[in-house]
Order: sequence, then C-alpha cells, then structure tokens
Amino acid sequence: MNENELIQKAIEASKRAYAPYSKFYVGAAVLTKSGKIIQGCNVENASYGLCNCAERTALFSAIAQGENDFVKLAIYVDRPQFTAPCGACRQVIVELAPNAEILLVNNKNEIKRLSVEQVLPYSFNSADLA
Ligand code: THU
Repeated sequence: MNENELIQKAIEASKRAYAPYSKFYVGAAVLTKSGKIIQGCNVENASYGLCNCAERTALFSAIAQGENDFVKLAIYVDRPQFTAPCGACRQVIVELAPNAEILLVNNKNEIKRLSVEQVLPYSFNSADLA
C-alpha cells in the first residue's frame, strides 16, 4: 500500500457522500496496520443532528469489520483548503485511532500531516477512567 492509494480511496469515498443539505462532500480512508483500507463518507439526514461525518463513518465501519489498529487516516474535500475533523470526530479519533497519522488532503494535491495530539491536545480519554 502506498500513501497515494490511501488518498485516492478518500477521494473516491467523497464522491459517495450523502450530503444533500450541506452539499459539503467529505471522504475519509483509514489504513490498518495490516494494510487494509476502509472508506467513509459523510451521511446526512433531514433531521440534521443525525448527520454522520466521513471520519466517524470510516472508523465505525472499520471497527465493524473487526479492525482496530490504525496507522493513517486521510480526509479529503474537493476544495483548495484543508478540512480538519470536527470536535466530535477528534474525540472519536482519540478513542479509536490514537496512534494514527492524520492526513488532510486538498484538491491541489497537498497534504497536511497532523498527529492526534495536535488535533486534540489535553484530551479526555480512557486513561482518565482507568
Ligand atoms: N463533515 C465531515 O464529514 N467531516 C469533517 O471533517 C467536517 C464536516 C460533514 C458533516 C456534514 O455532513 C457536512 O460535512 C457539513 O458540516
């Protein structure tokens, strides 16, 4: 697996986004330690509070497929700006993919690399409940 493949999977996933309300089409792809790639897109609902972001779709799908060791998470939106995960997704990333490198990808073929610690410093996490 090369990183470009992961990014292509995130781009592909963005095209499947169900976002008739925001028209903001997000794709995510998570790479497991074993080399598997699992995709996610945002899925909206007329009851807006039920919208699910691409990042959580990808991570929840991966868990449902029995995967739990993640090394990279790519996030793509077809625009020149980088799109960072929302607060809810950051909390989920801390829980499920604490060691993953996060790749924000824009439509200029640029990549911004972030650690989980960078996207959510001082997190509340499982260690607090130990
Ligand atoms: N969204 C994502 O899927 N991921 C992000 O990182 C930012 C926001 C979605 C949620 C909603 O469907 C739409 O983008 C607008 O907020």
